[in-house]
Amino acid sequence: MKTPRIDLYSDTHTKPTPAMRQAMAEAEVGDEQNFEDPTVNKLCGMVAELLGQEAAVFLPSGTMCNQIAFRVHCRPGDEIILDYFAHPINAESGGPSALAQAQTRTLHTERGIFTADQVREAIRPVRRHVPSSRVLSVENTTNAGGGSVWPIADIAAVTSVAKENGMAAHMDGARLMNAVVESGTPAKEYGRHFDSLWLDLSKGLGCPVGGVLAGSADFIEQAWRFKQQMGGAMRQAGIIAAAGVYALEHHVERLAEDHENARTFSRAIAQIPGIKMIFDRCETNLVFFDVSETGMDAATVAENLLAHDVRIGAMGPYRMRAVTHLDIAAGQLEEAAEALRKVVS
Ligand SMILES: Cc1ncc(COP(=O)(O)O)c(C=O)c1O
Repeated sequence: MKTPRIDLYSDTHTKPTPAMRQAMAEAEVGDEQNFEDPTVNKLCGMVAELLGQEAAVFLPSGTMCNQIAFRVHCRPGDEIILDYFAHPINAESGGPSALAQAQTRTLHTERGIFTADQVREAIRPVRRHVPSSRVLSVENTTNAGGGSVWPIADIAAVTSVAKENGMAAHMDGARLMNAVVESGTPAKEYGRHFDSLWLDLSKGLGCPVGGVLAGSADFIEQAWRFKQQMGGAMRQAGIIAAAGVYALEHHVERLAEDHENARTFSRAIAQIPGIKMIFDRCETNLVFFDVSETGMDAATVAENLLAHDVRIGAMGPYRMRAVTHLDIAAGQLEEAAEALRKVVS
């Protein structure tokens, strides 16, 4: 399928810009699994510093960042507490049970943001016949929660409960820089509450591939063992790490434009008869809406939009998600909203 001209399916659909490709082409490289790739080393140093952690490791994907972190923190039979819509529950092929051999305990929330009381209630008593609550996992921004940003006070509250109970605190920061730009809370300020956290390079930051997982020196040493075991150890990976370095230097502040564009789109489609916004506010770059009152289902709306050269994802029978990103210009949002209006009316 040809990529539609206005592709709001996901911020993973960005293509590297000419300047990013130039940085990749010129990257100094070496054997990354021997720590001889200067560009990978630079990227890991930048992310560790950004997140206020001792060390970091470059991985092929955000999924691998979550799964390796869980493997380091958990022993078989342990339990991970997280939101019921969190990515590792729904989109990582059962990784927590297959790889860390941990089970998950889900918290039910509106926007993926749970409370300290919910965590307290979910933590297991220490008894021989119950699983051990081992990791608390926080997703920031929340994907299925509408791109919501965790307030730092809430992060402090939930991670304190985890720590008081001997658990590790982990952050899935697939869109952490969106949260940083929107809230004005420095990444380091988020980072200091976590034993492990990562950011994705291949979403709003616009890189073709990769995630960077950070934590203590000891945590990263253990993470390296699993990176090797899972086949995630690379060679001249500086070629792709260079995109990450470039993105951290040039693509962070601009995330504010994506948020503004998402709000423009959200306001425009809220006026269309039959379209119901799922969340009362659009905080970052994700816009969720329901089409049930249009008389069409989400798959049909998505398919008909393609005829207008617009792609929006069907996320359920009637639920749709539009995502703004680097490859979407401000003027295209009105065009996409107009296409949606035509399709549903
Ligand atoms: C919240 C969240 N976590 C993890 C991931 C996984 O990232 P990756 O696609 O780099 O494996 C995604 C990807 O969509 C995500 O949205």
